[in-house]
Amino acid sequence: MLKPEIEDGQASLADPQFRADVLAGLARRPRAIPARWFYDHRGSQLFEEITALPEYYPTRTETALLQSLCPELRELTGEGRAVVEFGSGSSTKTPILLDCVHPSAYVPIDISGDFLRESARDLAQRFPDLLILPFEADFTRPLTLPRTIADAPKLGFFPGSTIGNLIPLAAIDLLRAMRASLGEGAMLLIGMDRIKDEDVLVPAYDDAQGVTAAFNLNLLARINRELDGTVPVDAFAHKAVWNDDRARVEMHLEARRDAAFEVDGRAFDIAAGETIHTENSHKYGPRDARILLRAGGWTPVREWTDADGKFAVILAEAQAERPAP
Ligand code: AVI
Repeated sequence: MLKPEIEDGQASLADPQFRADVLAGLARRPRAIPARWFYDHRGSQLFEEITALPEYYPTRTETALLQSLCPELRELTGEGRAVVEFGSGSSTKTPILLDCVHPSAYVPIDISGDFLRESARDLAQRFPDLLILPFEADFTRPLTLPRTIADAPKLGFFPGSTIGNLIPLAAIDLLRAMRASLGEGAMLLIGMDRIKDEDVLVPAYDDAQGVTAAFNLNLLARINRELDGTVPVDAFAHKAVWNDDRARVEMHLEARRDAAFEVDGRAFDIAAGETIHTENSHKYGPRDARILLRAGGWTPVREWTDADGKFAVILAEAQAERPAP
């Protein structure tokens, strides 16, 4: 998740950016609201449930990969780098990496301070001798990292295929910002979900138990709660579709009947069959992934995939720019 929000806010306390994104997103055509707003307290809980669903293969596939790639990774990165995680860290994946590369420091970066401090506390219990420096910041922009790790060799960590939630233009901007933050010579370990059969991809985003549907619909409940909304949640249905042209799974909220509602005192309507686009999850073939990384200033060094080629974990390096050709 790029920017999780841990607290459930009241209308008056709503994040002004949430208000602006929702009002603009409902007014534009096609309607679209950025996926970052899924992650209020309930949304974060539902996402945790998604990661354990039988249909949602990315989390368990990547976790198993991280376990198996360790000896090779340690050889390629060496020990004692400062690990900089973009996002506040996962309770399963982060310890696997830290156990593997024995870092000199661990710097999780996240815009949500609460989330960050909570996961840093948990990790400190598990790694009492590790220097943990939580850094509250927006990692989509180049950052000056804490002075303590200024001279340490660095290993960035961006698991989960979160890069896939950005359109390619924004994904490249983010990779470039990471390169600027970590500096030349740094390495990056990144998870990317692969293009595969629609029969596997769509159920991963439309599971039989309806957890992903609840995750998507929770956005409307959040709008009602935080932005004084009257959106009839039962008039909407979760929809997940594979967009082959753009190589992404899209999530939408589709109106099942004509509906009229208010948000923050503004009136909106939607006709049956129209949708609000809520998320893109881009998938990358092996060459696509490498080109994306190179476009973002990262040279792929090694990649690992599971036996079925469902998911890739790629190690890349911020090498010195060479003039063309
Ligand atoms: C956080 N992100 C990588 C997830 C994904 O697979 O795109 C979010 C998600 N949306 C529905 N299911 C999972």
